[in-house]
Amino acid sequence: MKRTVFEGVGSYLPERIVTNDELATRVDTSDTWIRERTGIGQRHLAAPHETATFMGAEAARRALAYAGAAPETVDAIIVATSTPDQGFPATAVSIQAALGITRGFAFDLSAACSGFVYAVSVADAFIRSGQCASVLVIGTEVYSRILNWEDRGTCVLFGDGAGAVLLRAAQDDADRGLISTHIHSDGRYGDILYIDGATGQADRPQHLVMKGSEVFRHAVSKLAGAVDEALAANGLSQSDIDWLVPHQANRRIIDAMGKRLGLSPEQVVVTVDRHANTSAASIPLALDEAVRDGRIQPGHLVLIEALGGGLTWGSALFRF
Ligand code: UT7
Repeated sequence: MKRTVFEGVGSYLPERIVTNDELATRVDTSDTWIRERTGIGQRHLAAPHETATFMGAEAARRALAYAGAAPETVDAIIVATSTPDQGFPATAVSIQAALGITRGFAFDLSAACSGFVYAVSVADAFIRSGQCASVLVIGTEVYSRILNWEDRGTCVLFGDGAGAVLLRAAQDDADRGLISTHIHSDGRYGDILYIDGATGQADRPQHLVMKGSEVFRHAVSKLAGAVDEALAANGLSQSDIDWLVPHQANRRIIDAMGKRLGLSPEQVVVTVDRHANTSAASIPLALDEAVRDGRIQPGHLVLIEALGGGLTWGSALFRF
């Protein structure tokens, strides 16, 4: 059996930064409310050319460059996104073409904000089974295109961006790599966070709808369960963790999770203040930042966790 190791990280953020104060000129909100309730200070919003494909391909190029890997060595591309550029071809296939890759396979995975954790789990199964030796996992999101810009309860929370990792097969006794993944869903809660409208309903533009406080409650309890599960499955304790790289939805949820794990604030990677919630892109964006600035070093034990629409949620534990 093979083991999955993280070989490369990369990310892309749109050039345009939109502050809370700028949003306050469009909807009835304030910088103070947004910062106090969410920790968000600004977000990046995509220009027309910054599509899910464009940003995902750029993040993937940077992950390949980090690993020193040629695009043609990639066996599979899995893109986690809730905002694909079109119904099909999948954004993953468009990114495959943008990278000049003509071999292997590519597909999109829909698990909302948990998409990156889900995609890592799926890639790991391909690698451990021997079906793939090299998989690009990309989270790329353009939530600005599905937000209701008149709904202050949601439009201030999200941003656009992409993050990518290159996963490779290593020998099972490698001293680094993915240790376990734990993914869950419960469709009974589909009505507390969803995209309204559907393909072919021209009179109903697709908009994100969220019952924020209900999602918040589920996030705190389900994420606690998912991180406990990851540690228990491997006989590890909280003190073994070097870094928590959580989904970046709300600073209060992130802080609660860090506290529960007994981590110091310095051990929790936070980008929500600058990126807002970039859904499936948030974890690989945060991971890329913390690897490139030297915080996460080879051999460190990293825990990732996310919850999103579905509801979907999960965690994964790896040694970088
Ligand atoms: O990534 C997927 C998972 N998503 C999440 O995990 C998000 C989870 N939820 C949250 O992060 C929080 O619930 C929110 C940030 C969305 C909202 O914070 P909250 O403390 O739960 O506030 P609330 O929804 O209970 O609203 C409190 C008040 C309301 O006014 P009233 O009814 O108390 O008078 C809202 O109308 O805040 C009002 N409000 C706002 N005020 C100023 C809602 N949005 C805004 C706004 N500016 N942008």
